[in-house]
Amino acid sequence: MNRQIVLAAHPRGAPQPDDFQLVEGTIPEPGPGQMRVRNLYLSLEAAIRSWLDGTPNYFAPIPLGGVIRGPSIARVEASRMAGYTVGDLVFGLHQWEDYSLSDANTVLLRKLAPNRDFPLSWYAGALGGSGQTAYVGLHRIGQIQSGDTVLVSAAAGATGSMACQIAALRGCRVVGVVGSPEKVSTLQEQMAVDAVLNYREEPDLAAALARACPEGVDVYFDNVGGKMLDAALTAMAGGGRIVGCGMISDYNHAGSPTPLYNLWQVIERQLTMQGFLLYSYLDDVPAAAMQLEQWVKEGRIQVLENIAEDLSVAGVAYSAMMTGTTMGKNLVRVGGAG
Ligand SMILES: NC(=O)c1ccc[n+]([C@@H]2O[C@H](COP(=O)([O-])OP(=O)(O)OC[C@H]3O[C@@H](n4cnc5c(N)ncnc54)[C@H](OP(=O)(O)O)[C@@H]3O)[C@@H](O)[C@H]2O)c1
Repeated sequence: MNRQIVLAAHPRGAPQPDDFQLVEGTIPEPGPGQMRVRNLYLSLEAAIRSWLDGTPNYFAPIPLGGVIRGPSIARVEASRMAGYTVGDLVFGLHQWEDYSLSDANTVLLRKLAPNRDFPLSWYAGALGGSGQTAYVGLHRIGQIQSGDTVLVSAAAGATGSMACQIAALRGCRVVGVVGSPEKVSTLQEQMAVDAVLNYREEPDLAAALARACPEGVDVYFDNVGGKMLDAALTAMAGGGRIVGCGMISDYNHAGSPTPLYNLWQVIERQLTMQGFLLYSYLDDVPAAAMQLEQWVKEGRIQVLENIAEDLSVAGVAYSAMMTGTTMGKNLVRVGGAG
């Protein structure tokens, strides 16, 4: 039996557990050039939200009744694919199910050679896509320099918590923005941030940013877009860089995105604003992965993660993530037989 999570309804606003349904499918047999993998950890990603509305973006939408597509750490169970043998650990864009088929067309497919001193789950978060996204975004897109003031939104999240720590390790002054007092404490106590704001407690975000960044923001690592981006535009230093990593604040209402009123600041302050997708910068990933592992080994990076137990709760875990009630990298340990 292959347990699968399918899309039961297009979410209206934030995804609800009932938008997902657990069904039983058959265990797939690999054809020529394919392999069957046993999913071990699902990596919950904000981007999955944009595939649930039925409208195409840079990936095809997931149809009603379709198995949810998402990255996972998996073990090869049967292989007819050159270069992959039974027992290999892999990462790739698979599906929310016990067993998936994988082949040369699987996005992000790569073998993992995990350091046994670290939990395997870290290779989906701090030592995987989240850490690598933060690293590539800050260096390649944001061109961070020691002494820069770096502003990070969703700063207690998977990507944001890594962006804060990497920027601090590079000698930057780091200001994080989060959505709860608990997240403020975690950042203050566990991460080397210089200041933290709770945007839910700031009626005037622009004024709060001006207070926290009196000399202006050199690099804004934007995970949320919307009102936060609009406010950050007014806090940028001349010549500053905005790294467009994500716009999660608009994902639950993509059809009516939040208007931006301060875009003129891009011209007035001569800003550079560039979006990026990690999978277009795969050449940068090996160096990023090596550096991140080194920092973790040296104890210079704290890994935040939140693991839900069993495939059956994937929909519940995903709705919690998309309403901001969790911290760090969100994962589902698939569990089940085998
Ligand atoms: N460009 C790339 O290649 C790439 C790769 C991975 C991820 N991303 C992007 O990075 C961002 C973070 O993704 P992640 O996987 O690391 O998720 P995450 O930050 O671990 O989790 C989501 C967090 O976003 C915040 N959030 C949710 N709704 C929000 C809203 N309406 N307004 C403001 N903040 C909200 C919440 O934190 P608070 O409680 O602090 O609000 C929540 O905990 C997403 O935008 C994602 O699309 C981009």
